[in-house]
Amino acid sequence: MTAQPTHLNLQVNGKPVVVQADPMRRLSDVLREDLGLRGSKVGCDAGDCGACTVLVDGAPVCSCLTPVVRAVGHSVETIEGLSPNGLSDLQNAFLRHGAAQCGICTPGMLMAATGLLAETPAPTRSQVEDALGGVLCRCTGYAKIIDAVLSVGHSGAAQALPASGQAVGARIERLDGLAKVNGAEVFGADHWPEGALVVRAIRSPHFAASFEFGDLAGWEAARAVQVFTARDLAALGGVNRFGVIPPFADQPALAETEARLRGEAVAIVVGTHKVMDAIDLSDFPITWTTLTPVMDPATAIGARAVQAERADNVLTRGRVVQGDAAAGLGAAAHVAEVTVETAYVEHAYIEPEAGCAWVEGDTLVIQACTQAPVMDQDDVAILLGLPRERVRIIPAAAGGGFGSKLDVSLQPLIGLAALLTGQPCRMVYSRAESMQSTTKRHPATMSAQIGVDAAGRITGMAFEGQFNTGAYASWGPTVANRVPVHASGPYLTPNYRAETVAIHTNGPVSGAFRGFGVPQAAVVQEVLYDDLAAALAMDRLAFRRLNALSDGDRSVCGQQLHGVGIDACLAALEPRWAQANADAAAFNAAGGALRRGVGLASCWYGCGNTALPNPSTVRLGITAQGRLCLHQGATDIGQGSNTVVTQICADALGLPIAQFELIGPDTALTPDCGKTSASRQTVVTGKAAMLSGQALRQQILALTNRGADADLTLDGGRIIVTDAAGAGEISLADLPLGAHGYVLMAEESYDPPTLPLDEDGQGAPYAVYGYGAHLAEVEVDMALGVVKVLHITAAHDLGRVINPQLAEGQIEGGIAQGLGMALMEEFIPGRTENLHDYLIPTAGDMPKITPILIEVPDPEGPMGAKGLGEHVLIPTAPAILNAIRDASGARVTRLPALPHRVLAAIQEAGQ
Ligand code: FES
Repeated sequence: MTAQPTHLNLQVNGKPVVVQADPMRRLSDVLREDLGLRGSKVGCDAGDCGACTVLVDGAPVCSCLTPVVRAVGHSVETIEGLSPNGLSDLQNAFLRHGAAQCGICTPGMLMAATGLLAETPAPTRSQVEDALGGVLCRCTGYAKIIDAVLSVGHSGAAQALPASGQAVGARIERLDGLAKVNGAEVFGADHWPEGALVVRAIRSPHFAASFEFGDLAGWEAARAVQVFTARDLAALGGVNRFGVIPPFADQPALAETEARLRGEAVAIVVGTHKVMDAIDLSDFPITWTTLTPVMDPATAIGARAVQAERADNVLTRGRVVQGDAAAGLGAAAHVAEVTVETAYVEHAYIEPEAGCAWVEGDTLVIQACTQAPVMDQDDVAILLGLPRERVRIIPAAAGGGFGSKLDVSLQPLIGLAALLTGQPCRMVYSRAESMQSTTKRHPATMSAQIGVDAAGRITGMAFEGQFNTGAYASWGPTVANRVPVHASGPYLTPNYRAETVAIHTNGPVSGAFRGFGVPQAAVVQEVLYDDLAAALAMDRLAFRRLNALSDGDRSVCGQQLHGVGIDACLAALEPRWAQANADAAAFNAAGGALRRGVGLASCWYGCGNTALPNPSTVRLGITAQGRLCLHQGATDIGQGSNTVVTQICADALGLPIAQFELIGPDTALTPDCGKTSASRQTVVTGKAAMLSGQALRQQILALTNRGADADLTLDGGRIIVTDAAGAGEISLADLPLGAHGYVLMAEESYDPPTLPLDEDGQGAPYAVYGYGAHLAEVEVDMALGVVKVLHITAAHDLGRVINPQLAEGQIEGGIAQGLGMALMEEFIPGRTENLHDYLIPTAGDMPKITPILIEVPDPEGPMGAKGLGEHVLIPTAPAILNAIRDASGARVTRLPALPHRVLAAIQEAGQ
């Protein structure tokens, strides 16, 4: 029961404030809703993620678990109080070290660290890890956060931005970092027009059920709310089907008569904040008739159809065939085989889905978390029956995405509410509904055989993979098609057959998650490579180098490759490989229950869509007053595209990066830069930015008749162009005003050149590939099966390193997710729908990470650059599994390698 609001006197950020609130309301809620202090984030409302950490009398507390009455008479400090006169040393250190990626955990991290530093001004690394242990970060792998905290009190000058022509390769702090460290960043839950109504969803508690509504009108009237269903959506003229790949669009925004997964939305309830805060949705008038859910992909083919349109429950199949795999295996001196099972993996971004919608004139505006604003625009327009140009998407800062925020979630729901109520409407998913209803990494069951000749060269490979794609298509077709292209790993495989199938079940929808199925397949191939090296009595690293792809080799798709960096990555690991093996041997010689081992794995990954167009367009303009504006529509979900794309553009144009003003992303202001996925933004949007910079430079040179090597200076309303022959000048005010309000403008597009795949998967699916290899050192408790990862050395070929600090951050964060996939993360529908049953790595779980950045330029990439975002996760899990086996003999074939599975595998190995 809700208590009566009471006047409560608080001391917040050094100032007295009075609020009228139920004394038991969450402090986080009062800070955000009543006091407008939205720098404190809410990720779980359960004390699991720590994003809401504030200081009460100097001690860190989860404000979501603190009743506001407990703060009465105490001093509350939030991120807004950290820097009344500019940034604190700690905030500056976060900026300087690249400790904030998406930034959603940053306020909680800063407050926890502030509490630590007040008590312990010079903490040790383990004291920092302990102090931050209650705050989860899904992006960074914690390394740069810990480094930032440790650096406070030590010298650390603010970085100057590089001069003209020196932006690419510079270790500059992220250009959009300030708002992430001062609490001003606007995430999906942080902006709403005054009086915005609140939207909540009615969701299926069943995996499969038909349903009928009862007396909606009576229920609405009794509660002063409005209820909208699929019927209202149809009345608008919408087509109630969305999907990221149009031919497979099959998912309703609101289920019509049958719910096909637990957590599927069937209706929305809209009311004032006060009403919705108090409302009890448990008596919502709906009658469910449960259906037998189809949960096991192994028996799903031929079971009850999850979707009538796909009676056999097969969404799609993928295939790549080159040479004769059976013959290659038949001719082999050694053949290894394995079957591997992987689990659902939850993205576990700290920001649950959130956003707000309102109507401006005849345009529906949606400001929400997303990785794909133009795809959202298309989906919302179709779902709500609007012309595309009447939908504007303004991406809020995304508090992590990792693939799941590529699919629309709440956008059509808040859009529907705003259209039908005529008022702004906002919505924030609870942690449970986020975990129930949004996409996951595909669980997979994969079997493969790989053969090798007596000299150690691969002769053939056969791979089969079954991927549980859940109730709707989402990115299932992409996974089914990308896996066969990549399952060989970055190794020359002359005879090859890889076949996949994506199967519908009533489980969660499986979609995009960093790597699109490739991380699962890499486990199979890399485990077998260790088997084969053992059969050959070869060093495992030497075996991989022997088979590594080289420039001019053809992939399993028959594509001739250039700029191949896998051997350079493996070679870079050699010194640590020798030392790590020696260290492990010395440790194990002492005996005892702990054993150490070393493992290796590689990756390759094609950047961008698989054999499909995926262009980006970038606009660059200069106003008459001398503003230099870069319109880039790539959403920066923490990976750094705002910074990297600008670095590339700055050097292409030849002006200092400090003079650039970033505009967008916003579908009304920025051209389409596609989605932030598939490691495509540095390559595709980066190249469009490079072309735009070059085109604008050409215009300037032509106007002044100067040579290609001329130096540019933008000085207020003029551009001075200097070469060996002298200086020319453009007075910007004298130029005619052109499109978009610019006197000089370039807008260029880039679409990576690919060739379609034929029925055997032969073609050129990607224009650019990136490569990497990880070396994992682990310690296994032979009695308990517990695995501790001690050190990961990660070599990645980026072609050209645009920003070393951001690249390291990607590597460290990807390794954290790979470690979670390897050792702890298993989403079980209906059982792990929160962040205390579903565990992700904390600061204390992370090993030492040594990134090694390699540059083997790609002839197609901008200035030689390749993508990195997905690559960084792929080798981690197989490297850890191979290290576990090296340490203990345990060949774990079901992920995650939980202690009971490791123990069982140890026993099976007879250790
Ligand atoms: Fe920590 Fe994104 S930066 S969750």
